[in-house]
Amino acid sequence: MTAPLPYSAHDLETFSARVFRHYGLGEDHAATAARALVFANLRGLDTHGVARLSGYAGRFERDLVDPRPPMTLETRFGWSASVDGANGMGPVVGQYAMDEALARAEAHGIGVVTARRSNHFGAASFFAVQGVPHGCITMVMSPASRSLAPFGSREPLFGTNPFAVACPAGRHAAWSMDMATSVAARGHIRLAARHGRPIPEGWALDAEGHPTTNAERALEGVMLPFAGAKGSAIAMMIDILGGVLSGSAFGGDIRDMTRDFEAPQDVGHFFLAFKIDAFMPLAAFNGRMETEIARLKALPPAAGHDEVLYPGELEARTATRRWSEGIPISPEVLESLKAVAGRAGVALPVPLASGPATSVS
Ligand SMILES: NC(=O)c1ccc[n+]([C@@H]2O[C@H](COP(=O)([O-])OP(=O)(O)OC[C@H]3O[C@@H](n4cnc5c(N)ncnc54)[C@H](O)[C@@H]3O)[C@@H](O)[C@H]2O)c1
Repeated sequence: MTAPLPYSAHDLETFSARVFRHYGLGEDHAATAARALVFANLRGLDTHGVARLSGYAGRFERDLVDPRPPMTLETRFGWSASVDGANGMGPVVGQYAMDEALARAEAHGIGVVTARRSNHFGAASFFAVQGVPHGCITMVMSPASRSLAPFGSREPLFGTNPFAVACPAGRHAAWSMDMATSVAARGHIRLAARHGRPIPEGWALDAEGHPTTNAERALEGVMLPFAGAKGSAIAMMIDILGGVLSGSAFGGDIRDMTRDFEAPQDVGHFFLAFKIDAFMPLAAFNGRMETEIARLKALPPAAGHDEVLYPGELEARTATRRWSEGIPISPEVLESLKAVAGRAGVALPVPLASGPATSVS
């Protein structure tokens, strides 16, 4: 198998932004969407990085996403707002809503914003970590298309509904939890299927409701929630906050971005940000977070572990490394980028290994 090639984050972001510009996005929105993809790659969340570019392009080609959404916002209280994403790209609608949540947190101590009529927004931590420079704790959730069997069922109803929480951590990189509510994000199964690799047992059931390690059969079947009934409850909470409450599709009605080309996805999101200094000075919180992390990291590692990590630590390290060494792009993802580059008439960047990184023309 051919080895992945490293590409500079800057080049991948420039390339992705040009592809989005080709599909009609304004400069700001194209830049935001490209940043969201490369953020995921930098942090090692490759299932939600540029591997998604081709899927996003396909929905623009079928007129299923509005590249220039006339987004609007309603508010009843100063601290809250509900956004109508007008079928814009997920990262674009998400950024609009997150900006509102943070502006409201600055003005009122807390900002809570729902968004409806959006699309797949990628990695939830892209939005959650934006609260850190504001001295905020943030929570971001989004229901996804039907793929996850609630506890006790063999039929899917919820999606792999991602949930991210982030806060400052003193001198450390942000504390940042970001997880699918399935045992693993569906993108991992898609990648395994693309590589012809098996998946671990316990991730999914096949179409007949039997456990499977075959990635293709798992894609036809259902994903399982993490921690059984507990993960199932969290997936349903996300469906309530991001779907029922936002006014978007819920209860299995979100369309699959990779398989359903009949109509827009109608994804909803939920964003919450509050100021830490509503409770204590930010410096005091940061000091206490440093103590928290020091105690965690002082624990003796269990068998099979070299050290104890806090959520977001590995991602921050990966980002530092990939920022300087490049983002590894597998041959399969490179093929999909070549295809989308051809369709959009945008040149692919040059891998770092074959010379200095240069921006595409
Ligand atoms: N938009 C969508 O519809 C959608 C759906 C599903 C998932 N996603 C995204 O997919 C991405 C991947 O999700 P995932 O569930 O596969 O994440 P994951 O399993 O890689 O990580 C989950 C959490 O565990 C922590 N973690 C992982 N390894 C650790 C270790 N060794 N020590 C301590 N903590 C550790 C991570 O920091 C993270 O907070 C996320 O960005 C998520 O938002 C998006």
